[in-house]
Amino acid sequence: MLSGTKTLIVDDNPDVIAVLSDFLAFNGCEVHKAVCGREAIDVLAKRDIDVVILDVQLPDINGINLIDTIKVDRPATAVVMATGYYDPNFVIDAMKKGASDFLLKPFEFDKLLLVMMRVIRERNLLIEKENMMQNLEDKRKIEHLNRALQKKIRELTTMYHISNKFNAINIFEDVYEKMIHIVGETLDVRSCGYYVADPEADELVLYTGHVKDGGDPGADWKRVGLPDEFKKDYRGPRKHLVRDNKVYLPLVIQGEPIGFIMTEAKLNGGNTPTTLDNDIFFLRLIAEKASTQIENRMLYESLFENILHTLRSLIIAINRRDFYTDGHCKRVTNLSLALGERLRISEYEKDVIRVVGPVHDLGKIGIPDRILLKPEKLTDDEYAVMKSHSEYGEEIMSRFEILAKEAKIIRHHHERYDGRGYPDRLAGDDIPVCSRIIAVCDAYDAMVTDRPYRKGMEEDAILTEMTRCRGSQFDPVIVEAFNEIIRDGYDC
Ligand SMILES: [Fe+2]
Repeated sequence: MLSGTKTLIVDDNPDVIAVLSDFLAFNGCEVHKAVCGREAIDVLAKRDIDVVILDVQLPDINGINLIDTIKVDRPATAVVMATGYYDPNFVIDAMKKGASDFLLKPFEFDKLLLVMMRVIRERNLLIEKENMMQNLEDKRKIEHLNRALQKKIRELTTMYHISNKFNAINIFEDVYEKMIHIVGETLDVRSCGYYVADPEADELVLYTGHVKDGGDPGADWKRVGLPDEFKKDYRGPRKHLVRDNKVYLPLVIQGEPIGFIMTEAKLNGGNTPTTLDNDIFFLRLIAEKASTQIENRMLYESLFENILHTLRSLIIAINRRDFYTDGHCKRVTNLSLALGERLRISEYEKDVIRVVGPVHDLGKIGIPDRILLKPEKLTDDEYAVMKSHSEYGEEIMSRFEILAKEAKIIRHHHERYDGRGYPDRLAGDDIPVCSRIIAVCDAYDAMVTDRPYRKGMEEDAILTEMTRCRGSQFDPVIVEAFNEIIRDGYDC
């Protein structure tokens, strides 16, 4: 019944200890003994005692006070007081301190057995309750950690999406517009916009922005008063500012604020704005990503401009030798852009034409004057040298790594649609579209221009010739579009 119950008997009378010990051991208890309070404390420190049978009168410590010591460290340990006489006041004191029951000496073993069984049951219930409370506390902690983890996952996911969206912005897209689009997608705000400061009017002027759900932004949305903090020195602020239900965050480029992202919080039912604290973290991230994109673009444009300047210098060198090339390249560029517009090529391809058009004959710099400037018809050998200008042009261009695509356009600007051109005999759509466009415009300009050894052809004759050559020399779709723009009155 009491199997395995660790019981400590504390009594200064060895006879009492002996009797109790025999009885409890007989009933399955693991019995420990102490003849005074000190010994009892030692045993309790070493053993995980389930029940203490505690004599009220001990030689060194009052039994009532010992209850405190037991209960402080081991609240689940049951204490049964043993006393030679019944005193109600003493009973009340002991019960207040946590004693479970009383036994009168001499012991009635039946009663002792019942008391032991009851206090053990109560103790087990108490431990079970403590375990449940502990489990509940653990559960609360786990739920708290889970909530924190979920929040962190949402933050990381959002950061990942923001990075991906910025990485996907291409060179032709407006970074400010994309930035505001990303703000709108990321944050649950009523409106957001990118503003530039008008310090003379003490106002911020909307550059781009939008209002969620197509709501009315209000008349004053496009021009917003400069917050007082910005009035003295609008270029000064580097940190965000929260005013009413709005957040102002400067967009800093190379250490200087060039404008502000402004978000307006939603009002949650009444007039209380929803919290913006979490939004500021993401706003900062978005502003940093946009700043990096803008700085990279500035760097790229500066590099690109330097390269074009170098290429233009080379073209000037060619033009000094061959005046025809000068006007020819400009006309081919303009005509190719008009033709590209008619063919609805992408903005990227138009930009490629803007770069390649003026320098498509760049390789002629490597052609000797006796061939380049020869007024008579070229011999086969001379023509072979002349043809090498497309490859030489590619070779020069490909030294600038960022112009790899443009270099290929130059290489193929003398390919033919039927595959009989040079240098690679590419055919059909294998020839880059920009090369096919330039080929048509290049041929048109060559035919229409007066040369020292012949007069330029009439327009109708050229169009007839080009129509004849569609599908062989030229892409038929491009020739069709070319005829249209010439008939529509394109001024070459
Ligand atoms: Fe050429």
